[in-house]
Amino acid sequence: MANNFLNGKRILITGGTGSWGNVLVERILKDFSPKKIIIYSRGELRQVSMKRRLNNPKLEFVIGDVRNKERLNLLCKESDIIFHLAALKHVTVCEENPTEAIDINIKGTENVVNCAIENNIEKVVYVSTDKAVAPINLYGITKAASERLIVNANLRNGKTIFSCIRAGNVMGSSGSVIPLFRKQIALNNMITVTDEKMTRFIMSLEEAIGLLLKAAELSIGGEIFVMQMPGIKVMDLAKVMAKELGDKNTKIKITGIRPGEKIDEVLVSQDEIHRTVEFGKYFVIMPYVPIKKAIEKYKNMKKPEFEYYSSNNTKMLSLEEIKEVLKRNHFLGNDYEYDELIGGLNREEMNRIEKKEKWLI
Ligand SMILES: NC(=O)c1ccc[n+]([C@@H]2O[C@H](COP(=O)([O-])OP(=O)(O)OC[C@H]3O[C@@H](n4cnc5c(N)ncnc54)[C@H](OP(=O)(O)O)[C@@H]3O)[C@@H](O)[C@H]2O)c1
Repeated sequence: MANNFLNGKRILITGGTGSWGNVLVERILKDFSPKKIIIYSRGELRQVSMKRRLNNPKLEFVIGDVRNKERLNLLCKESDIIFHLAALKHVTVCEENPTEAIDINIKGTENVVNCAIENNIEKVVYVSTDKAVAPINLYGITKAASERLIVNANLRNGKTIFSCIRAGNVMGSSGSVIPLFRKQIALNNMITVTDEKMTRFIMSLEEAIGLLLKAAELSIGGEIFVMQMPGIKVMDLAKVMAKELGDKNTKIKITGIRPGEKIDEVLVSQDEIHRTVEFGKYFVIMPYVPIKKAIEKYKNMKKPEFEYYSSNNTKMLSLEEIKEVLKRNHFLGNDYEYDELIGGLNREEMNRIEKKEKWLI
């Protein structure tokens, strides 16, 4: 496929009203000329607001749930490419609603796989996370299981090409740590960090969408695409935000690591590294099942030199670099985009949530 590969295509985006979905849709409309884009999600408010904001006749907003296979099937009849983004993604929410998390994240993915095969969809790209590697919380477990469903689907009798991307934390996505730190400074002049040693991968939404589109363009089936990306110490992020947005009294409080949280995140594990290759600025993890085409294509490419790829053995951003990245992505100024999950909290609500949930990233 050439890089106008989405021109003339009918695209279905499950979870298209979320942080990723909004940027993905804007990017497709800017860089391609698709026939139409179907945005499939449950909540009408987000759909109405996105529809008004983008105001484009190529967009079709459909209310529905990925748990509803019949409805998905109907939409697949009018689609060529699927970006499967719909998920419950908050660690705490998944822990507190395990049945829903399993149904939406795993069963929903299984529905997408089955509908795609039944309707001869050309490509499906699934968005996974570093939390799926050696998972220690239910969110990560559901994403790991879904990766398996997606990779395995290439062995079924169908023409659909299935691939995954694995992303680290996307800066500023809904309910994430950057809007949280901003709000904590504004309300309490204090930031909470669970552990001083904690590190995370960090990428912008633009970069994340770039990875998603690359996977859609280049996948031949069975790959997990991973972007080579820098890491940060969460403590450094807190220091920079305290300095830039707070004053000399802004405090950073350590609250203690909580269940389901890791000190470092891993994007490529020790068990996967032997079947991982470097592919431009990406890594490709080859399938663990015998998908011959993919193994043939990648097997002679350069292997990474490390034993695993983690947020503490990647390039770490300095304080100055973190400030630069935050500035470039409008997280320090007044042009900051409001976060609907955190933006509206008052002090009492924030304190209550902080105590109860401590927050995870
Ligand atoms: N943000 C990150 O840092 C990050 C990192 C790695 C991977 N990811 C993955 O990237 C994907 C998108 O994340 P995001 O940050 O854009 O999440 P988000 O802002 O929470 O958006 C989630 C989307 O999924 C929809 N959705 C949820 N449950 C659904 C269901 N049962 N049926 C249909 N639609 C449903 C939501 O709309 P309704 O609630 O209205 O249905 C919304 O459109 C997720 O799969 C997430 O796991 C995110």
